[in-house]
Amino acid sequence: MVVWSPFRFNSGQQMANRFAMAPLTTDSSHDDGTATEHELEFVRRRAASGFGAAVSSAAYVEQHGRSWQGIGAAHDGHLSSLHRLAAAMRAAGGLAILQIYDGGRIAKPELIGEQGLRAPSAVASLRPGAKTPRAMTANEIASLIASFREAACLARKAGFDGVEIHGANHYAIHQFFSPRANHRVDHWGGTLSKRLNFPLAVAQAVRDALGPRLIAGFRVTPFESELGGYTLEDAKLLCNELARLNLDYISVSLDDYRRSRPVGETRVYDGPVEQRHAPTENPVTAFARVIAGRSAVMASGGIKTCMDAEGAIKMGADLVAVGRAVVVDPEWLCKVRSKREASILAGLPKDEREIARALSIPPRMVEYLLSRPGWIPRL
Ligand SMILES: Cc1cc2nc3c(=O)[nH]c(=O)nc-3n(C[C@H](O)[C@H](O)[C@H](O)COP(=O)(O)O)c2cc1C
Repeated sequence: MVVWSPFRFNSGQQMANRFAMAPLTTDSSHDDGTATEHELEFVRRRAASGFGAAVSSAAYVEQHGRSWQGIGAAHDGHLSSLHRLAAAMRAAGGLAILQIYDGGRIAKPELIGEQGLRAPSAVASLRPGAKTPRAMTANEIASLIASFREAACLARKAGFDGVEIHGANHYAIHQFFSPRANHRVDHWGGTLSKRLNFPLAVAQAVRDALGPRLIAGFRVTPFESELGGYTLEDAKLLCNELARLNLDYISVSLDDYRRSRPVGETRVYDGPVEQRHAPTENPVTAFARVIAGRSAVMASGGIKTCMDAEGAIKMGADLVAVGRAVVVDPEWLCKVRSKREASILAGLPKDEREIARALSIPPRMVEYLLSRPGWIPRL
């Protein structure tokens, strides 16, 4: 089966199999952005099941871009924490990839102060209760690109095998690409080709910081389902340009790779159908066609069995990332590999203390998981 075969990236780094642990924020770091023992244990236990690679929870690159209480890759003070994280992620010899992000207009005011909220334009997110950010100056944009570069340098120093740029799920890079969030009329916005400038500048900066021998990946939401959002055709153009920068992989962020459902900005999927954009092509297949082997394609969303993973590969993916299945069952990959799928845990236990204890999930993460009903299955 293809899913158990090795995969070599452009950079020469090799995954022993096609399974990656998806980036999973635990919302459980120390206030200063260093990793807690709880979250290291969460990652260590899951990575130990033999993933070809693990992608970390998203690390903020600037304090003003924090969207939750997660890890940071913003300054030298984060280096030893990142070092310990990389070691935990390599529990079974797989590759360790650091995901980096900035929250832009969906940073959390409680963490950064309301005055600190900054984004491509002064346009509030559609999330309920969202505050209006102020538009970033050209200098702030240049600094943010430099912060992504610095974060990639920190990842290299901390011993990671690569970096994944979080360009998806409505965070700052996604906002720069979105005509709904980006109303600028300078170098960074106004036309589709100008809205490409920020994502591409970050990708170039990260590639330069890592050099050719470490992995540079980019996570993208393949289209916006909201009215007036960017389309799959726009995102295909972005992928084509990213592949030209010799990125190692493009990760396609979907809630379900078969049904092509991206994470909506309000996190509600079932709005009025006539107001929602839906592509006619599957995004994984569409991106694989455009990229044409120049970078790998990583699919995610709804992978719960080996057949699901093989299905994604048949649709054009080279790699798959698995999220909720490994939250619920830390030994998911061992069970899949040894053909014990019938014993995979189907949901979180009823008892909240049991969730934390039996599954090595930090208590704050348990709260976060349970705060969105229907998101993670319960027994
Ligand atoms: C608890 C939790 C935290 C997540 N944190 C991140 C994150 O930090 N970065 C990211 O790109 N995606 C994040 N995601 C999205 C997952 O990586 C994945 O794309 C999504 O859950 C769909 O895949 P799945 O059906 O296998 O869970 C998170 C998902 C969950 C459930």
